[in-house]
Amino acid sequence: MAEPTAKNWSGRFSEPVDELVKIYTASVGFDYRLAECDIQGSLAHARMLAHCGVISGTDLQDIERGMAQITGEIQSGSFTWSVDLEDVHLNIERRLTDLVGDAGKRLHTGRSRNDQVATDLRLWLRSAIDGIDGLLHALREVLLTLAQAHADTVMPGFTHLQVAQPVSFGHHLLAYHEMLGRDRERLSDCRRRVNRLPLGAAALAGTTYPIERQMVATELGFEALCENSLDAVSDRDFAIEFCAAGALIMTHLSRFSEELILWMNPRFGFIRLADRFCTGSSIMPQKKNPDVPELVRGKTGRINGHLVGLLTLMKGQPLAYNKDNQEDKEPVFDTADTLVATLRIFSAMLGGLTVDAAAMRRAAQEGFSTATDLADYLVKRGLPFREAHEAVALAVRFAAAEGRDLAALTLEELRGFDARIEEDVFAVLSVEGSLAARNHRGGTAPEQVRAAIARARSSEQG
Ligand code: ARG
Repeated sequence: MAEPTAKNWSGRFSEPVDELVKIYTASVGFDYRLAECDIQGSLAHARMLAHCGVISGTDLQDIERGMAQITGEIQSGSFTWSVDLEDVHLNIERRLTDLVGDAGKRLHTGRSRNDQVATDLRLWLRSAIDGIDGLLHALREVLLTLAQAHADTVMPGFTHLQVAQPVSFGHHLLAYHEMLGRDRERLSDCRRRVNRLPLGAAALAGTTYPIERQMVATELGFEALCENSLDAVSDRDFAIEFCAAGALIMTHLSRFSEELILWMNPRFGFIRLADRFCTGSSIMPQKKNPDVPELVRGKTGRINGHLVGLLTLMKGQPLAYNKDNQEDKEPVFDTADTLVATLRIFSAMLGGLTVDAAAMRRAAQEGFSTATDLADYLVKRGLPFREAHEAVALAVRFAAAEGRDLAALTLEELRGFDARIEEDVFAVLSVEGSLAARNHRGGTAPEQVRAAIARARSSEQG
């Protein structure tokens, strides 16, 4: 006779499991987070079993009653999780059996923990994806609002982190709006593959009971069935895809963070983060540190690690289920938790951002950022681009030696580099002129920035 705390599978063993093994193999310490999904899945399974005549209507009622009580216990925190019972599934099933007797023991008919856990994780991930998607949407709204306010704010655009050409700060912000838009697409694409039902695969080969998988899928809101039982219980590609999408979200936010850190450095002085989003130094009284963006950058490493961890977890596994897969949960949970926390704080932080437009404009004027505009000016007056490039390079060299900006040269000095230059060159050399001239879809002209915002707003509504 098995002891009361013995595991559901201990019947064929001649000695109890070693204490070390018990602790090493238990997952309840983290998979308790699947409890709600586990109960949802069990109820759908039980209803289907009753519908198909595998269990009785009375059994179903007992199971429903027991699960309602267990849900209450879990929500109120009075449920006792036991490591002796290994994982979330066995903990809940044991409690159900304690509460309702034989009906609880019939629940596991026609399924296995292998298809059960895959179902639970998919349900959990589906709802996590929906939450993350909502936060991405909110962050993109914050970006649109900021971009709208700064369509006319001029900043230096960089290549190689050297001043390249002036751009609209709004345009710069919209670059992130685009990235996060593709992140939303990736998540929704991934969601379609998460949202398939593995239940019915049982341990690996399917089950001998007359089950109706579509009924379970419909109740749980799955849009399709996993079509192969071996695949259903063993592959975790859906979780890997989620981690990949998550790693890209974090990568985008990490790049943004890196820019915020640079911009708030006094050498740049482009922005200020609200004090409530900064931290001080315990030794240097003058410091105001960008801990939040730094941590976003830092946590990105962890999330990338989860992706590589899951890929590595999967790569050596023969079909079908292996216990290795128990290791899929912590990376998935941590990726989702980190995304939620990061997206939340990022939106709030950007809401408290102030911009020093004068400092941005000054920096945009330095570094000969309108040199390309001067070359384009000469091309429009008949000079081949390569020659125009050379003439402007000489002008830049001269101005640099003089410690002056191109726009600060006199017309006579400029004409020394090419006689085609006229008075109207100064409009071209201004940063505003440079922006306004890039007036096509996707360009940085403030007019285009406003059009892009309008397009984004109408497609969000549509
Ligand atoms: N805790 C297990 C997991 O996460 C549940 C499945 C256990 N299946 C098994 N055959 N041991 O994967």
